[in-house]
Amino acid sequence: MFAADRLPLAERYAELLATEGVVRGLIGPREAPRLWERHLLNCAVLAELVRGSASVADVGSGAGLPGIVLAIARPDLRVTLVEPLLRRTRFLDEVVEELGLEGQVEVVRGRAEELAGTRTFDVVTARAVAPLDRLARWCLPLVDPGGELVAMKGASARAEVEAAMPALTALGCADPVVVELGVGVLAESTWAVRLARPEAGPVGWRGRPGRGDGKARDRRRAQ
Ligand SMILES: C[S@@+](CC[C@H](N)C(=O)[O-])C[C@H]1O[C@@H](n2cnc3c(N)ncnc32)[C@H](O)[C@@H]1O
Repeated sequence: MFAADRLPLAERYAELLATEGVVRGLIGPREAPRLWERHLLNCAVLAELVRGSASVADVGSGAGLPGIVLAIARPDLRVTLVEPLLRRTRFLDEVVEELGLEGQVEVVRGRAEELAGTRTFDVVTARAVAPLDRLARWCLPLVDPGGELVAMKGASARAEVEAAMPALTALGCADPVVVELGVGVLAESTWAVRLARPEAGPVGWRGRPGRGDGKARDRRRAQ
């Protein structure tokens, strides 16, 4: 998962999570002994879904998961960590500096919704940030046409997709694809939901009257 020359970076990151990350309350103390399995390796398996040399935004990166792990595993990626909480962005800035990732990783303090209209990326990732429908509303506007949102989910991924289908259809995204990751590698598989943004046109907001909703716009024009 990590090339030999990047393994020391992964080890140092694990150390930072287990020490400063725990002290500053970004990682629960009970997570410390299982950081590799539940966090680093769990995120590293995501790397196989990301196309070569992609720009990636990791929304709600927290202590850097999966964004820092992706950057370590895939030096070809340019990674933007999007996180609103100052305590967390301070830690992320320190990690980036300590690992020497300044040329590859940037930290942006803010919410995904605030970034909409200012930046887009080939791939947007998110792990443990919000239910799929809300995540799609926040993140699809950050995805380049032809790019995708990759949401890391647990074993309930398919159920979550079903629950979110009305919202996803209203947003006009292609059918979600659920991928099981880490089979034969992790003790427990993990799942990713891939949501492609259509090649052309803005992300639709149908079903969210007052927020660029197509029908509402048509009604306004007709008045
Ligand atoms: C439960 S933590 C998950 C952190 C990390 N992704 C992980 O897997 O460990 C959720 C993170 O999402 C961030 N967050 C919540 N709403 C957000 C939004 N609208 N835009 C960007 N980040 C958000 C929170 O500040 C928090 O750091």
